[in-house]
Amino acid sequence: MEGENTRGSTRRTLFKAALIASPVPVLLGGGVALARDSIANGQPLEPTPFCDDGDDPTIPQTEGPYFKPNSPQRATLPGSGTLLTVSGYVFGLACQPLANVLLDFWQADRNGAYDNYTYNFRGHQFTNAQGAFKLTTIVPGLYPGRTRHIHVKAQAPGRPVLTTQLYFPGEPRNNTDTIYDPRLLMNVRTVGSGREATFDFVLNVAGSTTSPTATATSTTTTSPSPGGGTWRVGVTYQAGNQATYGGATYRCRQGHTSQAGWEPPNVPALWARA
Ligand SMILES: [Fe+2]
Repeated sequence: MEGENTRGSTRRTLFKAALIASPVPVLLGGGVALARDSIANGQPLEPTPFCDDGDDPTIPQTEGPYFKPNSPQRATLPGSGTLLTVSGYVFGLACQPLANVLLDFWQADRNGAYDNYTYNFRGHQFTNAQGAFKLTTIVPGLYPGRTRHIHVKAQAPGRPVLTTQLYFPGEPRNNTDTIYDPRLLMNVRTVGSGREATFDFVLNVAGSTTSPTATATSTTTTSPSPGGGTWRVGVTYQAGNQATYGGATYRCRQGHTSQAGWEPPNVPALWARA
Protein backbone atom coordinates (compact mmCIF):
# COMPACT_ATOMS: atom_id res chain seq x y z
CA MET A 1 0.00 0.00 0.00
CA GLU A 2 2.70 2.40 1.05
CA GLY A 3 4.77 1.41 -1.96
CA GLU A 4 1.88 2.06 -4.30
CA ASN A 5 1.40 5.51 -2.91
CA THR A 6 5.04 6.22 -3.40
CA ARG A 7 4.93 5.13 -7.02
CA GLY A 8 1.82 7.19 -7.64
CA SER A 9 3.47 10.24 -6.19
CA THR A 10 6.51 9.67 -8.34
CA ARG A 11 4.44 9.48 -11.48
CA ARG A 12 2.66 12.65 -10.61
CA THR A 13 5.88 14.39 -9.65
CA LEU A 14 7.36 13.53 -13.02
CA PHE A 15 4.21 14.70 -14.68
CA LYS A 16 4.58 17.99 -12.86
CA ALA A 17 8.03 18.25 -14.35
CA ALA A 18 6.53 17.77 -17.79
CA LEU A 19 4.00 20.48 -17.11
CA ILE A 20 6.68 22.86 -16.01
CA ALA A 21 8.85 22.04 -19.00
CA SER A 22 6.04 23.22 -21.26
CA PRO A 23 5.91 26.90 -22.17
CA VAL A 24 3.71 27.88 -19.30
CA PRO A 25 4.47 31.05 -17.35
CA VAL A 26 3.10 29.79 -14.05
CA LEU A 27 5.67 28.09 -11.85
CA LEU A 28 5.02 26.78 -8.40
CA GLY A 29 7.57 26.88 -5.65
CA GLY A 30 8.31 24.31 -3.00
CA GLY A 31 7.83 20.68 -3.81
CA VAL A 32 8.35 20.86 -7.53
CA ALA A 33 11.85 22.26 -7.40
CA LEU A 34 13.51 18.84 -7.42
CA ALA A 35 11.40 17.65 -10.31
CA ARG A 36 12.34 20.74 -12.24
CA ASP A 37 16.01 20.15 -11.53
CA SER A 38 15.81 16.62 -12.84
CA ILE A 39 15.01 17.89 -16.32
CA ALA A 40 17.62 20.62 -16.31
CA ASN A 41 19.09 19.19 -19.49
CA GLY A 42 16.07 20.49 -21.33
CA GLN A 43 14.66 17.07 -22.09
CA PRO A 44 10.90 17.43 -21.62
CA LEU A 45 9.32 14.43 -19.98
CA GLU A 46 6.44 12.69 -21.65
CA PRO A 47 3.59 12.41 -19.17
CA THR A 48 1.88 9.36 -20.65
CA PRO A 49 4.33 6.63 -19.56
CA PHE A 50 3.93 7.68 -15.94
CA CYS A 51 0.19 7.95 -15.97
CA ASP A 52 -1.19 5.19 -18.14
CA ASP A 53 -1.81 2.76 -15.31
CA GLY A 54 -4.02 5.22 -13.50
CA ASP A 55 -4.04 6.38 -9.93
CA ASP A 56 -6.36 5.65 -7.06
CA PRO A 57 -8.72 8.53 -6.37
CA THR A 58 -8.19 10.50 -3.18
CA ILE A 59 -10.29 8.88 -0.49
CA PRO A 60 -13.28 10.64 1.05
CA GLN A 61 -13.56 11.41 4.74
CA THR A 62 -16.22 12.75 7.02
CA GLU A 63 -17.11 16.41 6.68
CA GLY A 64 -17.24 16.83 10.45
CA PRO A 65 -19.50 19.29 12.24
CA TYR A 66 -17.89 22.58 11.24
CA PHE A 67 -18.33 23.01 7.49
CA LYS A 68 -20.00 26.26 6.46
CA PRO A 69 -21.09 27.04 2.88
CA ASN A 70 -20.49 30.45 1.32
CA SER A 71 -16.81 30.69 2.15
CA PRO A 72 -15.06 33.67 0.55
CA GLN A 73 -13.02 33.10 -2.59
CA ARG A 74 -9.45 33.52 -1.42
CA ALA A 75 -6.24 31.50 -1.46
CA THR A 76 -4.85 33.12 1.67
CA LEU A 77 -6.47 32.57 5.05
CA PRO A 78 -5.10 35.33 7.26
CA GLY A 79 -4.50 34.90 10.96
CA SER A 80 -1.78 34.46 13.53
CA GLY A 81 0.13 31.24 13.87
CA THR A 82 2.85 29.26 12.16
CA LEU A 83 2.76 30.07 8.46
CA LEU A 84 1.77 27.12 6.29
CA THR A 85 1.46 26.78 2.54
CA VAL A 86 -0.22 23.81 0.92
CA SER A 87 0.34 23.48 -2.79
CA GLY A 88 -0.15 20.79 -5.37
CA TYR A 89 -2.20 19.67 -8.30
CA VAL A 90 -5.59 18.12 -8.90
CA PHE A 91 -5.53 15.22 -11.34
CA GLY A 92 -8.12 12.98 -12.93
CA LEU A 93 -7.85 9.19 -12.96
CA ALA A 94 -5.70 9.25 -16.10
CA CYS A 95 -3.30 11.66 -14.40
CA GLN A 96 -4.51 14.59 -16.48
CA PRO A 97 -4.46 17.91 -14.60
CA LEU A 98 -7.92 19.31 -13.93
CA ALA A 99 -8.47 23.03 -14.33
CA ASN A 100 -11.14 25.04 -12.55
CA VAL A 101 -11.59 22.54 -9.75
CA LEU A 102 -13.27 24.11 -6.75
CA LEU A 103 -11.26 23.61 -3.56
CA ASP A 104 -12.96 24.76 -0.38
CA PHE A 105 -10.69 24.64 2.68
CA TRP A 106 -11.61 25.07 6.31
CA GLN A 107 -9.61 24.50 9.46
CA ALA A 108 -9.17 25.34 13.13
CA ASP A 109 -7.15 28.33 14.30
CA ARG A 110 -3.88 27.86 16.16
CA ASN A 111 -5.79 27.13 19.36
CA GLY A 112 -7.87 24.40 17.78
CA ALA A 113 -11.05 26.44 17.49
CA TYR A 114 -13.27 26.74 14.41
CA ASP A 115 -14.88 30.05 13.60
CA ASN A 116 -18.54 29.18 13.15
CA TYR A 117 -19.77 32.77 13.09
CA THR A 118 -17.62 34.42 10.44
CA TYR A 119 -15.20 32.95 7.93
CA ASN A 120 -11.82 32.97 9.61
CA PHE A 121 -9.72 30.11 8.23
CA ARG A 122 -12.27 29.33 5.56
CA GLY A 123 -11.87 30.00 1.86
CA HIS A 124 -12.31 28.52 -1.57
CA GLN A 125 -10.24 28.75 -4.72
CA PHE A 126 -10.07 27.16 -8.17
CA THR A 127 -7.20 25.25 -9.74
CA ASN A 128 -5.52 27.14 -12.54
CA ALA A 129 -5.16 26.02 -16.16
CA GLN A 130 -2.39 23.62 -15.13
CA GLY A 131 -4.51 22.05 -12.40
CA ALA A 132 -2.45 23.70 -9.67
CA PHE A 133 -3.53 25.28 -6.41
CA LYS A 134 -1.82 26.98 -3.50
CA LEU A 135 -3.29 27.66 -0.09
CA THR A 136 -1.56 30.05 2.31
CA THR A 137 -2.69 29.63 5.89
CA ILE A 138 -1.36 28.66 9.32
CA VAL A 139 -0.73 25.31 10.93
CA PRO A 140 -4.08 24.41 12.52
CA GLY A 141 -4.17 23.79 16.25
CA LEU A 142 -5.24 20.61 17.98
CA TYR A 143 -8.63 20.05 19.54
CA PRO A 144 -9.89 17.19 21.70
CA GLY A 145 -10.31 13.85 20.00
CA ARG A 146 -8.55 14.65 16.73
CA THR A 147 -5.09 14.79 15.28
CA ARG A 148 -3.94 17.83 13.31
CA HIS A 149 -5.84 18.18 10.02
CA ILE A 150 -7.25 20.48 7.35
CA HIS A 151 -10.70 19.93 5.85
CA VAL A 152 -11.31 20.30 2.13
CA LYS A 153 -14.05 19.83 -0.44
CA ALA A 154 -12.91 19.33 -4.03
CA GLN A 155 -15.16 19.40 -7.04
CA ALA A 156 -14.29 19.28 -10.73
CA PRO A 157 -16.76 21.11 -12.98
CA GLY A 158 -19.97 19.17 -13.15
CA ARG A 159 -18.69 16.33 -10.98
CA PRO A 160 -19.58 15.15 -7.49
CA VAL A 161 -18.01 16.77 -4.45
CA LEU A 162 -15.12 14.97 -2.76
CA THR A 163 -15.04 15.77 0.96
CA THR A 164 -11.84 14.78 2.71
CA GLN A 165 -9.12 15.86 5.16
CA LEU A 166 -5.36 16.37 4.94
CA TYR A 167 -2.92 15.28 7.63
CA PHE A 168 0.54 16.16 8.90
CA PRO A 169 3.33 13.59 9.26
CA GLY A 170 4.98 12.99 12.61
CA GLU A 171 1.97 13.93 14.71
CA PRO A 172 1.66 11.78 17.86
CA ARG A 173 -2.10 11.76 17.61
CA ASN A 174 -1.99 10.22 14.14
CA ASN A 175 -1.65 6.92 15.98
CA THR A 176 -4.82 7.31 18.01
CA ASP A 177 -7.20 9.29 15.77
CA THR A 178 -9.63 6.76 14.29
CA ILE A 179 -10.45 9.05 11.34
CA TYR A 180 -6.81 9.59 10.38
CA ASP A 181 -5.66 7.83 7.20
CA PRO A 182 -2.02 7.82 6.03
CA ARG A 183 -3.16 8.03 2.40
CA LEU A 184 -4.07 11.64 3.16
CA LEU A 185 -0.70 12.66 4.56
CA MET A 186 0.80 15.79 3.10
CA ASN A 187 4.51 16.14 2.47
CA VAL A 188 5.56 18.83 4.91
CA ARG A 189 8.91 20.50 5.28
CA THR A 190 10.08 23.27 7.56
CA VAL A 191 11.23 26.43 5.82
CA GLY A 192 12.47 29.11 8.17
CA SER A 193 9.84 29.46 10.86
CA GLY A 194 7.07 28.20 8.57
CA ARG A 195 5.96 25.00 6.88
CA GLU A 196 5.59 24.14 3.22
CA ALA A 197 3.28 21.25 2.44
CA THR A 198 2.39 19.57 -0.81
CA PHE A 199 -0.50 17.31 -1.68
CA ASP A 200 -1.92 16.14 -5.00
CA PHE A 201 -5.57 15.22 -5.28
CA VAL A 202 -6.83 12.58 -7.68
CA LEU A 203 -10.51 12.97 -8.45
CA ASN A 204 -12.74 10.28 -9.84
CA VAL A 205 -12.84 11.91 -13.27
CA ALA A 206 -12.09 9.73 -16.27
CA GLY A 207 -10.92 11.02 -19.62
CA SER A 208 -9.72 14.45 -20.48
CA THR A 209 -12.95 16.34 -20.10
CA THR A 210 -11.21 19.48 -18.94
CA SER A 211 -8.93 20.94 -21.53
CA PRO A 212 -6.94 23.59 -19.67
CA THR A 213 -6.76 25.90 -22.67
CA ALA A 214 -10.39 25.56 -23.63
CA THR A 215 -11.56 26.01 -20.07
CA ALA A 216 -9.40 29.03 -19.47
CA THR A 217 -10.86 30.61 -22.58
CA SER A 218 -14.41 29.79 -21.67
CA THR A 219 -14.19 31.80 -18.48
CA THR A 220 -13.85 34.98 -20.47
CA THR A 221 -16.77 34.46 -22.82
CA THR A 222 -20.40 35.05 -22.17
CA SER A 223 -22.66 32.80 -24.15
CA PRO A 224 -26.38 32.11 -24.07
CA SER A 225 -27.40 29.67 -21.39
CA PRO A 226 -28.05 26.18 -22.74
CA GLY A 227 -30.48 25.77 -19.89
CA GLY A 228 -32.77 28.44 -21.30
CA GLY A 229 -32.70 30.65 -18.19
CA THR A 230 -30.86 33.71 -17.00
CA TRP A 231 -27.70 31.83 -15.97
CA ARG A 232 -24.72 32.62 -18.21
CA VAL A 233 -21.09 31.56 -18.52
CA GLY A 234 -18.55 34.24 -17.67
CA VAL A 235 -20.68 36.11 -15.16
CA THR A 236 -19.42 37.03 -11.70
CA TYR A 237 -22.12 35.96 -9.29
CA GLN A 238 -22.17 37.03 -5.65
CA ALA A 239 -23.57 35.02 -2.78
CA GLY A 240 -27.30 35.60 -2.68
CA ASN A 241 -27.69 36.32 -6.41
CA GLN A 242 -30.43 34.41 -8.16
CA ALA A 243 -30.41 32.84 -11.60
CA THR A 244 -32.70 30.50 -13.49
CA TYR A 245 -31.57 27.41 -15.29
CA GLY A 246 -33.57 24.60 -16.83
CA GLY A 247 -36.82 26.07 -15.55
CA ALA A 248 -35.69 26.23 -11.92
CA THR A 249 -34.52 29.15 -9.81
CA TYR A 250 -31.22 28.95 -7.96
CA ARG A 251 -29.60 31.08 -5.29
CA CYS A 252 -25.83 31.57 -5.40
CA ARG A 253 -24.19 30.13 -2.27
CA GLN A 254 -20.72 31.56 -2.79
CA GLY A 255 -19.28 34.17 -5.09
CA HIS A 256 -17.64 32.87 -8.26
CA THR A 257 -17.28 33.47 -11.98
CA SER A 258 -19.46 31.01 -13.83
CA GLN A 259 -18.03 28.70 -16.41
CA ALA A 260 -19.06 25.83 -18.64
CA GLY A 261 -19.57 22.79 -16.48
CA TRP A 262 -20.56 24.90 -13.47
CA GLU A 263 -24.25 24.98 -14.39
CA PRO A 264 -26.34 25.41 -11.23
CA PRO A 265 -27.69 21.83 -11.09
CA ASN A 266 -24.11 20.51 -11.31
CA VAL A 267 -22.52 22.44 -8.48
CA PRO A 268 -24.38 22.23 -5.19
CA ALA A 269 -21.42 23.93 -3.56
CA LEU A 270 -22.19 27.04 -5.59
CA TRP A 271 -25.94 27.00 -6.22
CA ALA A 272 -28.92 25.94 -4.13
CA ARG A 273 -32.49 25.64 -5.39
CA ALA A 274 -34.29 28.80 -4.33
FE1 LIG B 1 -11.87 19.29 12.07
